[in-house]
Amino acid sequence: MCGIIGIISHTPVASRLVDSLKRLEYRGYDSAGIATLDAGQLQRVRAEGKLKNLESRLDGEPIAGTIGIGHTRWATHGAPTVANAHPHATARLAVVHNGIIENFRELKAELQADGYSFESETDTETVAVLVTREMDRGAAPREAVANVLGKLEGAFSLAFLFKGEENLLIGARRGSPLAIGVGRGEMFLGSDAIALSPFTDEVRYLADGDWTILTHDAAEIFDEDGNPVDRPVTVSAGKPFYVDKGNHRHFMQKEMFEQPEVLSHTLGAYVNMTDGRTRTPKGQELDFTKVRRIALSACGTGYYAALVGRYYFERYAGIACDLDVASEFRYRESPLSDVDLALFISQSGETADTLASLRYAKSQGLKTAAIVNVPESTIAREADVVLPTLAGPEIGVASTKAFTCQLMALAALAVRAGVDRGVIKADEELEFTRALMEAPRLVNEALHLEGEIEHIARDLATQHHALYLGRGFSYPLALEGALKLKEISYIHAEGYAAGELKHGPIALIDETMQVVVVAPHDRVFEKTVSNMQEVAARGGRILLITDHKGAASGAMDGARLLVLPDMPEILIPIVFAVPLQMLAYHTAVQMGTDVDQPRNLAKSVTVE
Ligand code: F6R
Repeated sequence: MCGIIGIISHTPVASRLVDSLKRLEYRGYDSAGIATLDAGQLQRVRAEGKLKNLESRLDGEPIAGTIGIGHTRWATHGAPTVANAHPHATARLAVVHNGIIENFRELKAELQADGYSFESETDTETVAVLVTREMDRGAAPREAVANVLGKLEGAFSLAFLFKGEENLLIGARRGSPLAIGVGRGEMFLGSDAIALSPFTDEVRYLADGDWTILTHDAAEIFDEDGNPVDRPVTVSAGKPFYVDKGNHRHFMQKEMFEQPEVLSHTLGAYVNMTDGRTRTPKGQELDFTKVRRIALSACGTGYYAALVGRYYFERYAGIACDLDVASEFRYRESPLSDVDLALFISQSGETADTLASLRYAKSQGLKTAAIVNVPESTIAREADVVLPTLAGPEIGVASTKAFTCQLMALAALAVRAGVDRGVIKADEELEFTRALMEAPRLVNEALHLEGEIEHIARDLATQHHALYLGRGFSYPLALEGALKLKEISYIHAEGYAAGELKHGPIALIDETMQVVVVAPHDRVFEKTVSNMQEVAARGGRILLITDHKGAASGAMDGARLLVLPDMPEILIPIVFAVPLQMLAYHTAVQMGTDVDQPRNLAKSVTVE
């Protein structure tokens, strides 16, 4: 993961580097650092932990300079210490890196044998020393970098700053993203348009394998064979990305409360609000008439959205679905000959495994589509068909509004697919779309349960373990609810298909086990209630999340209840996701964890 920024300007850069790093902190927050040139000499300040630690250090020891690089780290090689923080530097240069240099051990051993020494445990320092060795042998910076790039294996984006070179920044990318920002008499390098948004909206995205030489007024770009290439300038929508928490305590809370609005925006991309017909967004045509099998793939919460997607496509469109976490899909080498469409889901559009799976599917000749939230992301740029979620920037590391918007897009697409395939008739289509239009109102009602949920969370925060159970549409929700709880509260939680309880997990049930049962009054309600009674019989502490009909059925003596409005089946995943998010959120707040930036995580996972 990690975020990179580079600036070559005529005005001081230190505070601008930090400003950009604030926008990149979603990529990692184990440490941060910047390096500049002051009268040609390398200056460097680094700090462990969050960016605010770097800011305090810079208050005490400010650094001058009109050219510099900055980095925010998600640790891969080496603990999150100052010594391992980027930029890494030698007497000749400083470098920042996102990605993993897979052959760094061999390269490091070779350099050590040549008499070079190292200060950190990182793979990145190997790159700094390799370029230094080339320069010690007489190469100029550009030649030195070009020679070294050919020796590196793995995924990387890099930005180099050279001692004595006030008009030179060099960037390179393979696997990890890097973009050039074009200014007036100044140039920028950044991990994404968000990093560049305080300075410019003119962005040139480097293609995989590209490297670039930046001066104040020009950007030369070369492909991996060293041939000069041109990459077009696109105007980025990056500026509105800088958002604040408004009146909310955390971004996650704000994002949960934005759901009614962003769900309705997303619905508008898939349903014509005047005639109630489903559609794919303009210019992104997808004809499901001949689609008989879809391969779905994503990571984390996106994977749980894909799991709901499978239920939607199979139930409403009669399309069989294969489903994989992306890190398995790309290596499983499953025969894809009978797959008609590969569909990927990603909030960030940068997740390394999902991107690699997309590329694998393309290499197998499959038509690809991607449900993405960041329109300028690599996945959005590489998929044949882009299916946007209009959730807006999601800053909290735990995904909330992006998840429900993914579900909304999937629901509408499944209905569209059903219509295309003749499984859904015109009047039924209208019924479905009328139901989908109810989502913002029902999600709003779910949000009104916040007070009650806060109360329940006080109890949950005293527990050490939780099981989440659900069947049918509620099974993916049980998985998602457990993921939300563990990632932000650090309480151990697992999700299970309710029917699987008696095949093992029931052994865990005693009076200390919190069990969250997700059971709307749907086709499988009675069966889930039976599983819940098996828990009750063994003394488990039960929270039942159901709807009015479920609550009225009276089958849940001894369970604590959270009651949502009744709703059409297609909306269950979208609306029931909300109390699960809020339960995790308020439990984490009770426990005093860092809700928006939980330990060990990052918002964009650009390493395998
Ligand atoms: C959990 C969460 C992660 C992401 C996963 C994929 O709350 O946010 O599990 O869903 O890292 O990220 P994207 O969707 O950006 O590909």
